[in-house]
Amino acid sequence: MPACLVCHDPLEPFLSFGKMPLADAFLDEPELAHEFFFTLAPGLCAACGMVQLCERVPDARMFHDTYAYYSSTSAGMRRHFAAFADQVRRRALGSADPFVVEIGCNDGILLDGFAAAGVRHLGVDPAGNVLAEAARKGLTVQQGFFTERSAMDIAAAHGRADAIVAANVVCHVADIHSVFAGVRALLKPAGLFIFEDPYVGAILEQNALDQIYDEHVFYFSVTSVNRVAAIHGLEVVDVAPQPVHGGELRYYLGVRGAHAPSRAVDEWIERERASGVVSPAAYRDFAVRTGALRQRLIDTVDRILSKRHRIAGYGATAKSSTIINYCGFGPAEIEYIADVTPGKQGKLTPGAHVPVRAPDFFRAHYPDYALLFAWNHEKEILEKEAGFQAAGGTWITYVPDVKVRSRPPGAAA
Ligand code: TYD
Ligand code: ZN
Repeated sequence: MPACLVCHDPLEPFLSFGKMPLADAFLDEPELAHEFFFTLAPGLCAACGMVQLCERVPDARMFHDTYAYYSSTSAGMRRHFAAFADQVRRRALGSADPFVVEIGCNDGILLDGFAAAGVRHLGVDPAGNVLAEAARKGLTVQQGFFTERSAMDIAAAHGRADAIVAANVVCHVADIHSVFAGVRALLKPAGLFIFEDPYVGAILEQNALDQIYDEHVFYFSVTSVNRVAAIHGLEVVDVAPQPVHGGELRYYLGVRGAHAPSRAVDEWIERERASGVVSPAAYRDFAVRTGALRQRLIDTVDRILSKRHRIAGYGATAKSSTIINYCGFGPAEIEYIADVTPGKQGKLTPGAHVPVRAPDFFRAHYPDYALLFAWNHEKEILEKEAGFQAAGGTWITYVPDVKVRSRPPGAAA
């Protein structure tokens, strides 16, 4: 029986996808023979409320010098992170010479906002390729994992931090105790640890099955985050929902007693109790609902193919790996997936081995139907690719349910 990474109680999976590949492991032909698979199965710890993967992939297999994901590929996300940096500056960087550390800075999309304001900063990330992009922009970065050890080294070299920030990173790290202990060691007594991750309540509500993959080790709630924080002398002092990645929460944590928690914290915890976000029944229902959703997507694809219509995908997201492999799709169902990331283009998707092509290829080879795997960027992509619908193409989305989209109101017939 696997054990909870937070409190070590036994963990019961509520859903199993069977053997799955690594969601960001795009491959070249010669690599197909050595593809890595693991059992993808999330579980809820009934004791501490933390939702997490029952089997984990070693960090170094996921986060390395050929990491496929670059944060700065979306204009919407660049705006989101500029606003995030502003918010951190207003709430935590009022001292004379403030210092901010980012855990998992990727290509520097969030650090850009601090650098532009002349704020002393340090980004830490294990993935050398994305980090090189941040360094190229002139950001101060250091390669490696953020651990209790490296946090103490940073404190010794640069002094303690007014703010420690992270976006879509804390939920990636199985050794969550090392991260929180590191934060406690590096943070000034009145500092703030501000991070955001996909919210498990939003995943449940939206049937966002495809948020479950290797890199997402944890699926946080305010309740579960506050319990881990308490173990390390920290507490959640504010919470703010964010409309990105299908619904996230931004958590503000301080050293216990240093900041008065806002009313929002208790309200979220009470809402989580009332809505069952920390109870096993909610996850059993989710497994049933998403099983039915999977079948509806398979049926929809079969129906389209039986009419000899063509289907392609848009957005070679990590999420797409889960939904494609769970549905058993391959190149026979999905001809190719368009994606703007140069490092993904020309490669094959994990598990299903669907070729990834540039958006220009999509424009030159419109399918009849396009499955929007980057559904969290729907507005940006549908606007950018307005030509697809104008040419008679149809978008399909599958969160919260399978939807074959009609043309937008007001579009030319
Ligand atoms: P993201 O939404 O962060 O998903 P995940 O965390 O599941 O990987 O990734 C978006 C992907 O979609 C990324 O590979 C870039 C791609 N993309 C495009 O190809 N065109 C676009 O206009 C946008 C916004 C994203
Ligand atoms: Zn637990």
